[in-house]
Amino acid sequence: MCGIFGVISSREVAPLILDGLKKLEYRGYDSAGLATIQYSKNTQLGELFTRKAKGKLINLSNLIKKQSIQGHLGIGHTRWATHGKPNEKNAHPHLDFTGQIAVVQNGIIENYNDLAKSLELKGIKFTSETDTEIIPHLIALEIENLLDKGLMTNGATLLSAVQKVLSLLEGIYSIAVVWSKAPDVLVVARRQAPLVLGFGEGEFFCASDTSALVGLTHTFLPLKDNEVALLTRLGIELYDENGNRQHRAPSLLKGTELFADKRNFRHFMLKEIYEQPETAQLWIDRYMPSDFLSDHSIAFPIKKSTLEKIDQIQILACGTSRHAAMVGAYLLEQFAGVPTTVYFASEFRYSPPPVSPNTLTIGVSQSGETADTLAALRMEKVRRDSIKDPNFSFHQLGITNRLDSSLARELDNVMDIGSGIEIGVAATKTFLGQMLSFYGLAILFASNKQTRPTQEILDLSNDLRLVPKQLLDLIKQHDALSKEIAHLFTETKDVIFLGRGINYPIALEGALKLKEISYIHAQGYPAGELKHGPIALIDQHVPVISIAVPGVVYEKVLSNSQEAKARDARLIGVAPDGPESAMFDELFSIPKVSEWVSPLLTVIPLQLFSYHIAAHKGLDVDQPRNLAKSVTVE
Ligand code: F6R
Repeated sequence: MCGIFGVISSREVAPLILDGLKKLEYRGYDSAGLATIQYSKNTQLGELFTRKAKGKLINLSNLIKKQSIQGHLGIGHTRWATHGKPNEKNAHPHLDFTGQIAVVQNGIIENYNDLAKSLELKGIKFTSETDTEIIPHLIALEIENLLDKGLMTNGATLLSAVQKVLSLLEGIYSIAVVWSKAPDVLVVARRQAPLVLGFGEGEFFCASDTSALVGLTHTFLPLKDNEVALLTRLGIELYDENGNRQHRAPSLLKGTELFADKRNFRHFMLKEIYEQPETAQLWIDRYMPSDFLSDHSIAFPIKKSTLEKIDQIQILACGTSRHAAMVGAYLLEQFAGVPTTVYFASEFRYSPPPVSPNTLTIGVSQSGETADTLAALRMEKVRRDSIKDPNFSFHQLGITNRLDSSLARELDNVMDIGSGIEIGVAATKTFLGQMLSFYGLAILFASNKQTRPTQEILDLSNDLRLVPKQLLDLIKQHDALSKEIAHLFTETKDVIFLGRGINYPIALEGALKLKEISYIHAQGYPAGELKHGPIALIDQHVPVISIAVPGVVYEKVLSNSQEAKARDARLIGVAPDGPESAMFDELFSIPKVSEWVSPLLTVIPLQLFSYHIAAHKGLDVDQPRNLAKSVTVE
């Protein structure tokens, strides 16, 4: 789970690499580094230079200001540590024992222990604790071998060596490799970890994500699994895993131009919270045009004939996406009457339920690159494909914010939540987009399977259309209130979030937001569970945030909240203003809406509450410690 970037150009590449890495920094920020090859006309050879710095990219940029680095070919890396501590020694690029080959890698080499042992037996000494370092050493040995066989010192030899070494590696990875003796080529490859190629004018790029190509080119090509590419100043050659030349037309970048402008906001997270009314409106315009009930094929990627065959749904997701899926499961079961189960993708892979017929498997992932979710979806596809019964139908759907992601490429049916790029590591607007997508699906199933009276379906659709305006008002109101009370919670160590029914996942999401950006321990519970154990934690130092929305569980949540108050908890309500709300010490009031749509609103004060506590504590809201925006390791 790191970002890699590479470029071959006639310009100086260090600033291009730093700029590319800046746009990939959301993928990890434990350390950063780059390597360039400087070509000498006199010797007609290149020289390899590296710079590395612990911590965020700014440290590397500052280092390069003091110790500049030249070259027209280079690779860079921004790291989220997996193997080895986040220090300079473990920062990429890693070099081989001759100091001529540099490699950056995103992923995990699963058999690196065995490969490292065999290299040590050959007398090779390791300078880092990473799994990556075996790669340059293996390439160097393979190059020696090829040169002994009479191959030339050139890019073709580097390509052959990389191809050979890839066949030894197990795991998930994308890599970029340079060799000082081939100062006019960059070799890149991927297996399951993302990598895209960019086509500029006389310059070519590779990057973990298209966002890093914005401003450099409009044309990109995602590398397929097990493909290897050779980048020169003249173009890109593409090879499959058997070394056969591949030809594919590149695509045009769309939408990503909106990337990363903080405007006047102090943090991306706050800007993204404020973008929610707009992204909700865009979602409604796209997926719920006035005639969408009579002709849902307008936007939804599931055919009517397929819908009719689906008897149950299983959803695979992680983190915040899983919370959106839980809201979705509630809607699909309780509103549309389709049995639905949500799984932690990381658990599903190792303990899946028995295969059942006529099942829709939905993978939800903002980034579309979460390794756990992708692995679970792939495993499920293999299980399903092995069943040859013609009456056994199996369907997959991806819900993502990134149409250029592995998830979108691998699944036949994809629903784009269309929230625009999210830079803050803590998901906010994409959570809303994911929930909205489930509202759309629930309406679709309910209307096609006729499991709800038409009037109720129309009521829900109409309520959804009011949400963007309600969000606008709520954000203004609660931004101010959260800011005002944030200082009361800076010393708080534990917070309990209570919700029930459709708002239980919002309690989980509120707790997750607080943990990840404010570093305050928080736990979300179904309110009825409080008395079965967690109530023992409560005293005047443990605030309880209770989501109480009129509906099937309203009175129950209010009495569960009273139980907490009776134990001296400071009680914060997310509830409509009214006689009942008098029990709360603080109230984040929400409009009186139908319980069905309430999660779209109740989450807003919780996002702002976490944001303002973190901002008040002076924490790095957009890049919280130990996290990364896209978790590409299992
Ligand atoms: C929390 C957060 C994470 C992600 C999780 C899955 O704010 O962003 O919990 O939701 O890592 O990521 P995606 O949705 O990209 O699969």
